[in-house]
Formats: sequence, structure tokens, C-alpha cells
Amino acid sequence: MIDVKLRSVSKRFSRGGDAAAVDDVSLTIAAGEFFTLLGPSGCGKTTTLRMVAGFAFPTAGQIHFGDQDVTRLAPNKRDAGMVFQNYALFPHMTVAQNVAYGLKVRKIGRAASAERIEQALAQVHLAGYGTRRIDQLSGGQQQRVALARALVIRPRILLLDEPLSNLDAKLREETRSEIRRIQREAGTTALYVTHDQAEAMAMSDRIAVMYGGKVQQVGTPHEVYHRPANAFVARFIGRSNVLELPVAEASADGLELRLPSGARIGIGAPEGHGLKSGDTALVSARPEQVRLAGPTADGALPGKVTGIEFTGMATNLTVDVAGDELMVSVVDAPDGIKIDDQVGLLLAPHRLWVVKP
Ligand SMILES: Nc1ncnc2c1ncn2[C@@H]1O[C@H](COP(=O)(O)OP(=O)(O)O)[C@@H](O)[C@H]1O
Ligand SMILES: [Mg+2]
Repeated sequence: MIDVKLRSVSKRFSRGGDAAAVDDVSLTIAAGEFFTLLGPSGCGKTTTLRMVAGFAFPTAGQIHFGDQDVTRLAPNKRDAGMVFQNYALFPHMTVAQNVAYGLKVRKIGRAASAERIEQALAQVHLAGYGTRRIDQLSGGQQQRVALARALVIRPRILLLDEPLSNLDAKLREETRSEIRRIQREAGTTALYVTHDQAEAMAMSDRIAVMYGGKVQQVGTPHEVYHRPANAFVARFIGRSNVLELPVAEASADGLELRLPSGARIGIGAPEGHGLKSGDTALVSARPEQVRLAGPTADGALPGKVTGIEFTGMATNLTVDVAGDELMVSVVDAPDGIKIDDQVGLLLAPHRLWVVKP
């Protein structure tokens, strides 16, 4: 197992004034870690992954596998196993021939190859499928062949670019835990790319949230969900209300904020928040962390229900509070709650989190 380091890696595709596709990205992926690049389409995930694979070279910065600088090394010299979104399998060849591909390139002998192919197919639970043709397999099975082909070379790092996006929703959920099992059993460091925040949360040890070619935050699923670094992360991971609240008083580690009702609440704030009295703080409140109360409840923000959506697990409401639409998710909505009802919303101070713009 090795760790992988990106040091101030940037990629520009043209010399002109275009924005960098990847802009000064520094990351350390620990040995054996399942690390995910998460962000909307066009934010630079694939470009970053391709530079780690060696299919593209950085305009600036360095990439290390363990102690080795691989920044300008050819892909076949890096021992990185790559799984693509469209699998990139050869449809007219058998499963075993597809898996053998990386071994041929590396000039591994016939007997050793056969053994390693069998082992890789067993790893992905496709033992005995070697002689099948690719076009005789389901999408999920093809996906596992692509994984076996990446694993058979015993990669130092496994690279996966949106490998589940061609599968339907149910298979996608099954396959994501399957990928995690395979990665854990193989003991390989993994760098995974997705635009799907639920997938990233479910699979990853840590996530780098990217936007505009830049890393916005690196953290565990728990950290990026509960302590988003900025408004983009708060809104991109799950759903979040980002409230603008005036600061009544500020200290090094706490803020007194004024609510639209005129009431004040005290909340903790991250070190170096830089806010002072009179500033406006951006505060993230998850819909499931806002509580529903009667319209006149003590300290509640009065509002009017403008939307109701029952999901089975919870009831999602939108509530108009002095012109702002807030999302509220409750598991125990009162029977008969309907549009235009007057309600009160309670914000628990310890559930609020100050974010940067
Ligand atoms: N070969 C290329 N030539 C020019 N621009 C590119 C090339 N590849 C990617 N880009 C641009 O770089 C940015 C990041 O792309 P990409 O890494 O594919 O994003 P993601 O995988 O997050 O959707 C986009 O603006 C994209 O248009
Ligand atoms: Mg991409």
C-alpha cells in the first residue's frame, strides 16, 4: 500500500486567459484509503484523475506515489488500475481476454497470467466467467470485469471515474458496497470520482469537494456534512438552509446572532471566523435539524407552510419565514398539516454552523 500526494497541481488546457481546469490542488490520499473527488460536472475531477493515471500531465505541481515522483511518468509505468465510466471493455473478446489486457502489456508469462486472471475474477465474484463474451453479460457484471481488469495488474492505486453512472438506481446501490468490499479485501489505495453526493458519502473514508477546479474542503463524510467549510459545500452536500443573520456580538469562538423575530441566539463559530458586530453571518441549518412547533412557541420563527412532500421516511416542508423559504424535514409531522398553515420553526443553536461565503 502507498499514499498518493498531489502538491499544488494545476492544469490549463490553453495558454490564453482561460481559467485552469484544475487550480492549485494539494491532497494526500493515505495508504489503503478510499478517497473521493466529489463535485458538479466540469469542476475538474476527471482531469485530476487523469493526471494521477498519467494520461495527462500537470501544467504545474507534482504527484508522488509514496516516495516516487511520478509527475511525468508514462501511465504503464505507474501501476495504476483505471476503471472508466463506460467500462472501455472489448465487446468481441471474452472476459478472460479483457482481464488479460494489462498483463499482456506488462509481458507477464502465460501460466502466471492465467493464475492472476482467475484470482482477479474471484475477487469480483465472477469465478468461472472467463470464457463468456462481454456482450453476454449484464451491465453490473461488465462493471465487475472492468474492476477485475484494473485489479489484475496489482495496482498501487485504483482509479475509478464515475463507474456506477451507467447502472440503474438499485444496482448502483448494491454495486457501491461491492466496490468497497473489493477495495478493502485487495488492500488497495483508491481514488474515486463522482458527482453524486450520496454515493460519495456512502462509500468514502474521506471526500474532497471540488468546484471551479479548486478543492473547497477535504473531510470525512461526517465533517463535510455537519461542518461544511463554505456555502457551496453546505448546499452541495445534502440539502441545507443557508441563512443570512446579522451579528449582534462576536467573540473568538462564538457569535450572538439576531433572528428575524428579533430574538438572539448564541452559537459556536470556527476559529478565525473573522466576523464582528454588524456583519452578516452565513449560517447553515440542515432541514432535519430544524424543529417544527406551534406558531407562538417560545423563541420560534413564525412562518407559513408553502410546500409539503411526503417521502415515507419523512415529511419535507418548505416554510416561508419573513420572505425566506426554509426547508424543514420532520419524521413526525402533525396529522393534517397543510399548505398555508401557520407554524413556528425552532433552530437548535448547537446544530447551526457558520460557513464562509
Ligand atoms: N482535453 C480538454 N481540452 C480542453 N478542455 C478540457 C479538456 N478536458 C477537460 N476540459 C475542461 O476542463 C474542465 C474540467 O473538466 P473535467 O475534469 O472533465 O470535469 P469533471 O470530470 O469534474 O466533469 C471543464 O471545463 C472541461 O471543459
Ligand atoms: Mg468527469
